[in-house]
Amino acid sequence: MFVPGLIERKRDGGALGPAEWRDLLAAYADGRIPAYQMAALLMACFLRGLAREETAALLDGMLASGSRLDFAHLGRPVVDKHSTGGVGDKVSLVLAPLVAACGVAVPMMSGRGLGHTGGTLDKLESIPGFRTDLSLEETKAQIDRVGCAMIGQTPEIAPVDERLYALRDVTATVECIPLIAASIMSKKLAEGLTGLVLDVKQGSGAFITDPEQSRELAETMIRLGEDRGCPTVALLTAMDRPLGRACGNALEAEEAIMSLRGEGPQDLHDVTLALGVEMLLLAGEAEAADAAARLEEAIGSGKAAEKFEAIIEAQGGNPAVVEDPALLPQAECVEVYYAPSAGTIVEVEPRAIGRAVVQMGGGRQQVDDAVDPTVGFVITARPGQEVHTSEPLASIFARDEAGVALARAALDRAIKIGEGRAAPLPLVAARVTAKGVEDLV
Ligand code: URA
Repeated sequence: MFVPGLIERKRDGGALGPAEWRDLLAAYADGRIPAYQMAALLMACFLRGLAREETAALLDGMLASGSRLDFAHLGRPVVDKHSTGGVGDKVSLVLAPLVAACGVAVPMMSGRGLGHTGGTLDKLESIPGFRTDLSLEETKAQIDRVGCAMIGQTPEIAPVDERLYALRDVTATVECIPLIAASIMSKKLAEGLTGLVLDVKQGSGAFITDPEQSRELAETMIRLGEDRGCPTVALLTAMDRPLGRACGNALEAEEAIMSLRGEGPQDLHDVTLALGVEMLLLAGEAEAADAAARLEEAIGSGKAAEKFEAIIEAQGGNPAVVEDPALLPQAECVEVYYAPSAGTIVEVEPRAIGRAVVQMGGGRQQVDDAVDPTVGFVITARPGQEVHTSEPLASIFARDEAGVALARAALDRAIKIGEGRAAPLPLVAARVTAKGVEDLV
């Protein structure tokens, strides 16, 4: 294999054949191709795109680089959800225990923060003692026992994706539909699922900001899943403002716990329920007419919160945080942000918020940075709200005064107050299946 020739062909707009992709990825997995050549190829893919067959071959090569889980012995549906990433997106922490409490096995495999977005693993690890690095054997045993495990990508699952993902994060090649689609689906298909629900974010806080392109991303992932025997459904949801109020790891874990107890913000509850309904339908655990009621019952009866306690306990964490979220790590400095002027909130721009959380220490600027779980925001201001001068709009949670100053500047940029009308994207805009797109507004 002559790698410079393959890079050159992609650079000039050509395509690689399935056997070329297979050999290339196998050689990369074995360490026979250096990262710099892979990075050059990724940039060529980013600039030129991938043909449909190439995206499929990339996915198959990433899947083939690792093992696949098999839950056939459970004799029951195994369903997961994956989000394309956003700010304040703590849905997985609520949804996994909620759906597991309704009798569906949920092997939830998640990632760490990427770019300006937070990661489920970092949020879970803000719970004292919580381990996300379970082995495949531990994961399988926990699914048998508890019905749900919330883990990171193990070295056995699509290891080539893990390496390409890290390379893309530092070479400005994340925002590319075929690369995102193959990356997400390689992890999900390795989980041995009987169904998959995708939360495809759209708006300025998403990786793919344009609503048309987010549909294309959803359709690409659905095709990859369905072609490999995994029924796949996507919802297109809003990421032109943070989801819920909390942004930052421990703050989001607390908000997720409140949501599991039925006391969380409405938008988080609504998105979680919409995705949960799709998971129950794919699992054949409920009819369309009663799926939402099943989920509401699991929250209202306390079963969903109990399931989260069981998951936390099984993964070495302190389950008492569910009763008492004050046991989560707390920030040194807490300050209130007040409206600098009166008017209508026209926008709460999520990307500026997500970047600020990273800069305050809540995410990584370099691969091996430690994450501070305590920092972030609780933003009560919502687009469309009328505010008067000096009304509290947010709370800042920081390590020190420099963090508070950084956070204030970010809120000044992110929260736009004016005379105009806010036109937020619909919370759940569309449902995409193999049959097509159904607009929900
Ligand atoms: N999430 C993933 O798993 N991969 C991507 O490329 C982007 C988001």
